[in-house]
Amino acid sequence: MDPSQQEPTPDKSEAHHLELISDTDSPAAGILYVGIDLGTSRTSIAASNGVRATVASVVGYPKDVIGQKLFGRTTLFGEEAIEKRMSLDFHRPLEKGVLKGAGGVEGDEGDVRAARDLISEIIRRARPKKDELIYAVIGAPAEASMKSKTAILEVAKESCDSVMICSEPFSVAYGQEMLEDVLVIDIGAGTVDLCRMHGTMPEDADQITLDTAGDFVDSKFADAINASHPEARFSKEMLKAVKERYGSVAVEMEPCIAEFPINGKPTELDLTSELRDSCRAIVPPIVKGLSELISTFDPEFQDRLKGRVLLAGGGSQIKGLDTAIEREMHEQLGSGRVVRIEEPLYGGATGALKIAHDMPETYWERLK
Ligand SMILES: Nc1ncnc2c1ncn2[C@@H]1O[C@H](COP(=O)(O)OP(=O)(O)OP(=O)(O)O)[C@@H](O)[C@H]1O
Ligand SMILES: [Mg+2]
Repeated sequence: MDPSQQEPTPDKSEAHHLELISDTDSPAAGILYVGIDLGTSRTSIAASNGVRATVASVVGYPKDVIGQKLFGRTTLFGEEAIEKRMSLDFHRPLEKGVLKGAGGVEGDEGDVRAARDLISEIIRRARPKKDELIYAVIGAPAEASMKSKTAILEVAKESCDSVMICSEPFSVAYGQEMLEDVLVIDIGAGTVDLCRMHGTMPEDADQITLDTAGDFVDSKFADAINASHPEARFSKEMLKAVKERYGSVAVEMEPCIAEFPINGKPTELDLTSELRDSCRAIVPPIVKGLSELISTFDPEFQDRLKGRVLLAGGGSQIKGLDTAIEREMHEQLGSGRVVRIEEPLYGGATGALKIAHDMPETYWERLK
């Protein structure tokens, strides 16, 4: 592949599709550019000062003064909030990447406040200097409506001086400098998003969303263990941790030995085949989705599309998944080449940061 053919500079037509606002007129030298991946389960940031950070997309507020005193803070985020959730007014402000309580999505004022606090927290973790202006590109799900994008802009406004919303698969592909004839598979917790790119912003017909993602693997895994070891006790979190440690679709995978209590006694269980089968269950729906996106594409370019499939998102870290999807593509579609992006957890954020860098200064200024 010739990299010179994938000049990443966004053209006017693409920029047209980006929703922009700015509340600054004179961006001085002191600008911190950030790319933010606002996910349902995890929010990540990549900043032009080299800082990267990620936090679970949950926010908790102590229910009363005693709680505030106990935690010494009025707001808790991520893992800490999950841990203390019982004594908190607890919010997961995003659902399928869309803000709850805004843009016609169910939710309440608390969710909106949580979203606002989550964005300012992730920016704080990028350690901007005092007085530095924040120019942010935020990835939203490709299928997010105008209304929910506007809602994201509204809550981001508070902590950013200039904000641009782009579609998540677009930022992933942009980060890889592959905007033309490429298929992006983004495996999250709640959804797998398949997106076809052909040089413009993806439209409805270019996208398929499946619910056979990370949570689906977890529940399959739970069912399989309940069937093979009905006496074992475990929580969703325990299973998820085992999956993230051992998850694989390979025939020759590292044995998955987990310790779960049976009748109150910690007991080692070999869950290798249960885990492998649960992970493998996501392959057929993905390839079926790819095949729909490929078969409705210009026949002349279908093969090119098959040869340029990008695998991203937390769930793409299941070992051997790229090869397994490739194999299934060969069987179902005759050919296929799948590349897992190098940093699946930061693919969206680093791509968004790259967009921020490449946007001409005048372009940011012109916003408002
Ligand atoms: N090492 C790993 N192996 C397998 N799965 C993993 C691994 N690490 C994380 N995951 C899974 O990835 C999923 C979360 O992915 P990601 O953080 O990309 O989601 P998200 O973007 O917040 O969610 P969504 O796309 O649904 O809005 C979870 O199901 C998690 O268990
Ligand atoms: Mg995501």
